[in-house]
Amino acid sequence: MLIKRGPEIPSSEVTPESVYHGRRTFLKKAAFATAGLATAGVAGPLTSSARPQNPGWNRPPAGPYNTDEDLTSFKDITTYNNFYEFGTDKDDPYKNAGDFKTRPWRLTIEGEVRKPAAYELDDFLKPYKLEDRVYRLRCVEGWSMIIPWLGFPIGDVVRKVEPTSRARYIEFTTLHDPRQMPGQKRPVLNWPYVEGLRMDEAMHPLAIFVVGLYGKELPNQNGAPFRIVVPWKYGFKSCKSIVKIRFVENEPRTTWNIAAPNEYGFYSNVNPDVDHPRWSQKFERRIGEFRKRRTMMFNGYGDQVASLYTGMDLRKHF
Ligand code: MTE
Repeated sequence: MLIKRGPEIPSSEVTPESVYHGRRTFLKKAAFATAGLATAGVAGPLTSSARPQNPGWNRPPAGPYNTDEDLTSFKDITTYNNFYEFGTDKDDPYKNAGDFKTRPWRLTIEGEVRKPAAYELDDFLKPYKLEDRVYRLRCVEGWSMIIPWLGFPIGDVVRKVEPTSRARYIEFTTLHDPRQMPGQKRPVLNWPYVEGLRMDEAMHPLAIFVVGLYGKELPNQNGAPFRIVVPWKYGFKSCKSIVKIRFVENEPRTTWNIAAPNEYGFYSNVNPDVDHPRWSQKFERRIGEFRKRRTMMFNGYGDQVASLYTGMDLRKHF
C-alpha cells in the first residue's frame, strides 16, 4: 500500500472520521485480534494542532504517567522520525514505511524464562489492558516531543513469562527484513537493531510496550506494530517493530553502543550534566517551538526513577 498523503489542512480543521480509526474501533480490533489490521503508516491528512485530533480520543487526566504539557501534533510525531531501517532523513520513515507489513507479526520470547513462547502478535496482546500514557520523548540529538502513547507496562509481560533467577537484562530486537526495510540494505548500523534494559528498569511502571498513539494504531514510522518506550532515557533506547524479547544474564550489546561506544552508552539516561562527546545535552528544542528549553535530569522523571541508579557513577555509566 502506498503512503496516502493528503493536502495540508489548517489546524482549525478537524480530521475527518473516515481517516482516523476511533480509539474504540482500535481497541476492539486489538482485543478481538481480527486478522489483518489496517497498516497504519498512512495517517492521511494531518493537522498541526496541539490538541488531540482523533475523534473518540480523550486526553487522559494529568498524573504520574501523564504530563499535562502541550501535546506535539500528530503530524510532527509521524513525519519527524528516527527509524533508520527506512532511511536516515527525518521524513524517510514517513515516506518509505507505508507498505511495511505489520500483520501477521510473529513475536518470540526466549532466553532465561520458564515460559518461552512464540506468538502471533494479536494473540499475545489479548490479556493486556491498553492505557494512554502521555510521555516526554527526548532524542539524543537534542529535540523532544510530548507523545500520547497507547500501551501497557513491560512488567506485565515479564511477570507472566516468569524469568529465571539468571535473567538480569532484557534484549529487544527489531525485525530484520531488508526487502521491506530498505535502510537495512546498507550497513548504516549493525542490523538488526537491538536494545536492552536492566531487569529493574524494564519492570519500572514507566517502561511500556506500545501499540498505538493518539488512541489509534501505531503508524508504521513510529515502530508498528509493537515497540517499547522508556521515557527517562534517550529515544534510541525505545526499540521499534520488535520481533524478539530475550531474557539474558549479561548486559546486551546494543546497536548504538556497537556503532559508537564512546558516544552511546548502555544506560543512556537523559542527563543534562553528561554531554555527548560532540554536543551539549543541557538544552533541547521541543518540536513545534523555537526557544530552547533546559533539559531535565532523567527527562523529568527523576522522582520516579532516580532510585534505580543509587550509588552508580552516571558519568561512567552514561
Ligand atoms: N528503533 C529502530 N528499530 N530503529 C531506529 O532507527 N531510532 C530510535 C528509536 N527506535 C530507531 C528505533 C531513535 S534514535 C528515536 S529518537 C526513537 O526511536 C524515535 O521514535 P519516534 O520516531 O516514534 O519518535
